[in-house]
Amino acid sequence: MVGINSDRTAPIGIYDSGVGGLTVWNALQTLLPHERVIYYGDTAHVPYGDRPAGDIIKFSQKIIGFLSAQGVKLVIAACNTSSALALPQLVAETDLPLLGMIEPAVRAALTLTKNGRIGLMATVGTVRSRAHASFLRALEPQAVLASQACPRLVPLIEAGCRSGQTLVAAVEEYLEPLLKAGVDCIILGCTHYPLIYEVIRSVAGPVRLIDPAKAVVMQVAEKLTELRLCNETGSGRNKVYVSAGPERFKQVALQLLANQDLVGEVHAAPGYML
Ligand code: DGL
Repeated sequence: MVGINSDRTAPIGIYDSGVGGLTVWNALQTLLPHERVIYYGDTAHVPYGDRPAGDIIKFSQKIIGFLSAQGVKLVIAACNTSSALALPQLVAETDLPLLGMIEPAVRAALTLTKNGRIGLMATVGTVRSRAHASFLRALEPQAVLASQACPRLVPLIEAGCRSGQTLVAAVEEYLEPLLKAGVDCIILGCTHYPLIYEVIRSVAGPVRLIDPAKAVVMQVAEKLTELRLCNETGSGRNKVYVSAGPERFKQVALQLLANQDLVGEVHAAPGYML
């Protein structure tokens, strides 16, 4: 069991398999600008999407152990695949407040949908877990979820691809069944997908797209308030760690993000995952 850190100025830990979690960090910076972050991108193991649940649990446990040793006060699993496959076990194993992507996404979709038909784009692992479907069933049994696994998207995004025919063709293929199912909103159920928002937008037409990052950060704000852990001074430093290829990560992150100030020096996590 890891103890809770009661230092308000302690950073928030954010982790993902790669650059996707930076979309959640972006939202955090906008909504909670005084909070500092330690970001962990598990680039040695990206993509998570096709891996067995046992691997995802093991990787996530190690990352949370690492972040905890860095003295974070709260952790955001800014990875839907980890949230879907590992979160209940991870929450049971740590005293650190640990928040994931799935429930806030489903709640946001329920607020937005008019016809009760909700689409989900996600990794193979997230779709197979049926995590969104079970939250949806619990919250609104009448609503229908149409899910589509999109395995080609994360490798393209990690390679820095944001436009072009290959990407557009993949998005068209993945969106077709969702559009045929008559969904009126689509959850971007992988934190990488908001990085290609414009491409998805152009194919999805009038269907509303839901980036759950904002809803997740609202939940973080509530949790910090409840625990009296809000950083009001803005003191502390951001840090980025990756488990492989720090230079490559930095290059892609700078290419993909609007707010380039987020990414300073990128450190190799000290032989941790390799
Ligand atoms: N960005 C992650 C997610 O939200 C992981 C994607 C992957 O590594 O396949 O699911």
